Amino acid sequence: MIDSLLLNAISWAREAGAVHLRYFRGNQLEIKSKFNDSDIVTAADKAAEKLIIDHIRSTYPHHSILSEESGVENHDSEYRWVIDPLDGTTNFSQGLPQFCVSIGIEHNGVTEIGVVYAAYLNELFHVIRGRGAYMNGEPVKVSGKTRLDQCVVATGFPVDKDRNPDNNVDNLTRVLPHVRGMRRLGSAAIDLCYVGAGFLDGYWELNLHQWDVSAGLLFVEEAGGSYTHFRTDRNVSVLAGTPSIHDQLLPMLSTEAATK
Ligand code: IPD
Ligand code: CA
Ligand code: CA
Repeated sequence: MIDSLLLNAISWAREAGAVHLRYFRGNQLEIKSKFNDSDIVTAADKAAEKLIIDHIRSTYPHHSILSEESGVENHDSEYRWVIDPLDGTTNFSQGLPQFCVSIGIEHNGVTEIGVVYAAYLNELFHVIRGRGAYMNGEPVKVSGKTRLDQCVVATGFPVDKDRNPDNNVDNLTRVLPHVRGMRRLGSAAIDLCYVGAGFLDGYWELNLHQWDVSAGLLFVEEAGGSYTHFRTDRNVSVLAGTPSIHDQLLPMLSTEAATK
């Protein structure tokens, strides 16, 4: 079962990626705001989501689904698909290439499979619990770095930054002087896979959702990295990294809301 689930997830992620590329840098994006102007959706998000959900419904009609744009579809099933049909929509809408589709598959509430496909970059990440993390079919590992001053670390900023001072700048101010470089790539799923592949040494972000991290956290774990949910009051807030770097960054991150 696990192997056929993985093969289907990869195949549908590749189809979703082909949908992304049909819209990318085109003039049919139909950009719409959701929570505010920092939180957008395009016609490509919706088309990719429809494609994946249609496949799941016809192949696994009893499986539950959690997907960003269309929400929850609960069935009495041991399996649940957790889908971000286009992660990095702001990049995508600007013509920037860091965007992907992310699919996690849970069995009895535990993520067992993850697939992240960045179509423009031609990067396919896949993972099965207990069987390692792979990029384009080759096994990958976290960087294993231990010195923070030699590390490149990514983060992101929450969509409610226009009205909420709990905007991650406090964490950035603390971490920035100690690292070789900071990046804001704009796709949580890619950030996590890049930690697993060793391209980034650490990553944290607050106020994410399950669909952003479902596949990526398993990828980090299977690539030998560590992660922590460092806030419980701010949706999904995660720190991931090579084990030593994770342990050095954790005490630098606020565990409660910044008020100014
Ligand atoms: C967003 C990206 C981004 C992160 C945002 C997410 P979306 O997802 O992962 O990197 O900073 O918080 O919402 O909206 O492009 O799917
Ligand atoms: Ca997302
Ligand atoms: Ca999305």
